[in-house]
Amino acid sequence: MHIIIRPTADEVAVAAADIVVPHIRRGATLGLATGSTPVATYQELIRRHDAGEVSFADCRAFLLDEYIGLAPEHEQSYHHTIRHEFTAHIDIDDALVASPDGMAADPHAAADTYEHAIVNAGGIGVQLLGVGTNGHIGFNEPGTALTMPTHVTTLHPQTIADNARFFDTAEDVPVHVLTQGLGTIRRAGHLVLLATGQHKAAAVACLAEGPLTTMCPASVLQLHNNVTVIVDEAAASGLKNLEYYRFAEANPLKV
Ligand code: F6R
Repeated sequence: MHIIIRPTADEVAVAAADIVVPHIRRGATLGLATGSTPVATYQELIRRHDAGEVSFADCRAFLLDEYIGLAPEHEQSYHHTIRHEFTAHIDIDDALVASPDGMAADPHAAADTYEHAIVNAGGIGVQLLGVGTNGHIGFNEPGTALTMPTHVTTLHPQTIADNARFFDTAEDVPVHVLTQGLGTIRRAGHLVLLATGQHKAAAVACLAEGPLTTMCPASVLQLHNNVTVIVDEAAASGLKNLEYYRFAEANPLKV
């Protein structure tokens, strides 16, 4: 796991864009997270797109997750959110920005369909991830098997409380979601996890330095060979091995 620490959230976004852009230039299939954390990275990617530095014309994208019961045009559906915050502002083909069908009559079948669509597309090249305060990635809450494919699940009350800020009341947050599973996420070629702010410090410490455990779903990243974790100083503040991460970053292998 390659851990990059930057002083501020804005610098995390620049570092993340630096890592993702070479994938975009190769026409990679992008795995996209929603939530607050990647927004600054999306803005940085839009800026580089507008400056003519990068084109998404050869890319397609798969979202991590979707709320069950929110129509695609609902302001808080992830289908809508990713377009509003990112993909409507770049030259990616909108028909190739996929998300699980939160309105499907049979959500379990929709989960299978989504998993197959990812496999049929040749898998995800680079997957952007945020992390929940309870260590979730996607909506794989504590206790989720580390091998799960895309599936239907129930949000943890902590996640509902965390996400209530996007809705009028906590009661409006859907309780059920479709999410790529930890097994799906583990098959992506390169995992890039972003975390900013003091409230993410415990989750970052558990995912990077804690034991591999379903109680911290993001710890599954420890089983992947190509993981970059980019955090600001506040989110890094719970890490014990900080001196080593800084040393390793200051001394890259020159080839
Ligand atoms: C969103 C997602 C979630 C978020 C996580 C952090 O698609 O899959 O795992 O990344 O809840 O959310 P923020 O960034 O809002 O703190």
